[in-house]
Amino acid sequence: MLEIATKIAQVRERVKAWKKAGLTVGLVPTMGYLHEGHASLVKRAKSECDRVVVSDFVNPTQFGPNEDLESYPRDFERDCALLKDCGADLVFHPAPEEMYAPDRTTWVDMERLSSVLCGKTRPIHFRGVCTVVNKLINIAAPDRAYFGQKDAQQLAVIRRMVRDLNMDVVIVGCPIVREEDGLAKSSRNTYLSAAERQAALCLSRAVRAGERLAAAGASPQDIVEDMKSVIQAEPMARIDYVEAVDAVNLEPVTDLSGPVLFAMAVYIGRTRLIDNFITKGASHAA
Ligand code: PAF
Repeated sequence: MLEIATKIAQVRERVKAWKKAGLTVGLVPTMGYLHEGHASLVKRAKSECDRVVVSDFVNPTQFGPNEDLESYPRDFERDCALLKDCGADLVFHPAPEEMYAPDRTTWVDMERLSSVLCGKTRPIHFRGVCTVVNKLINIAAPDRAYFGQKDAQQLAVIRRMVRDLNMDVVIVGCPIVREEDGLAKSSRNTYLSAAERQAALCLSRAVRAGERLAAAGASPQDIVEDMKSVIQAEPMARIDYVEAVDAVNLEPVTDLSGPVLFAMAVYIGRTRLIDNFITKGASHAA
């Protein structure tokens, strides 16, 4: 049975009772408008934890002034139906006022990792993500928390936050879930017109081209150039960035010896989409 909680105290009370009974708790933080990507996180959490809490909260502090906070898609009833199917135990759906006191003055911020890649065009984004994820972890006190690899920078930032702040939670990264034609699942895909939806396939085409070149031993720079040319062949696409960075610290790389994140953000019309892949590094090569 899926329980709905809108108050922090409700979540705390339920989690406390579970812990008292010796049960483990998984947390899946989301902003709602759930799709199969989120479902895969919930199912993974369910397979590894006794109880699963899903937060469904469009976090205002991670949106810049000219971003899509108001238009971000929302459908809580539909979300609950999906969560019931996946076996989630509790959905936390707070109002913004429940999460943020009007006179709040505390942020969780991070140097370096949050100012590269998406951080260049979204300067306050990761401060908002770190702050809300920190709060959600404090509220739900999970043993494990689940995040998608599609938001690769977010995952790296959260892993670093948990390490730097000695947070007592295991962060689990889960693979990207794609549509049949390759487009990475995203709540923002709903913004795309039919023509844009078709054009958006240039992102996954670039990922596949990059993966092929990486397997053939090309340099990160050549791989990035090739991925850019795949995207530039699509007239409706405008590149924000395509970069190769160390998958853990997000610093630039010159070879594929360690795990390398090839990440991109691309505007299709007014919609900004992201996609990526990670190479395993020479020490992991089969
Ligand atoms: O990935 C998301 O949906 C959000 O950034 C997160 C982690 C739920 C924080 O609001």
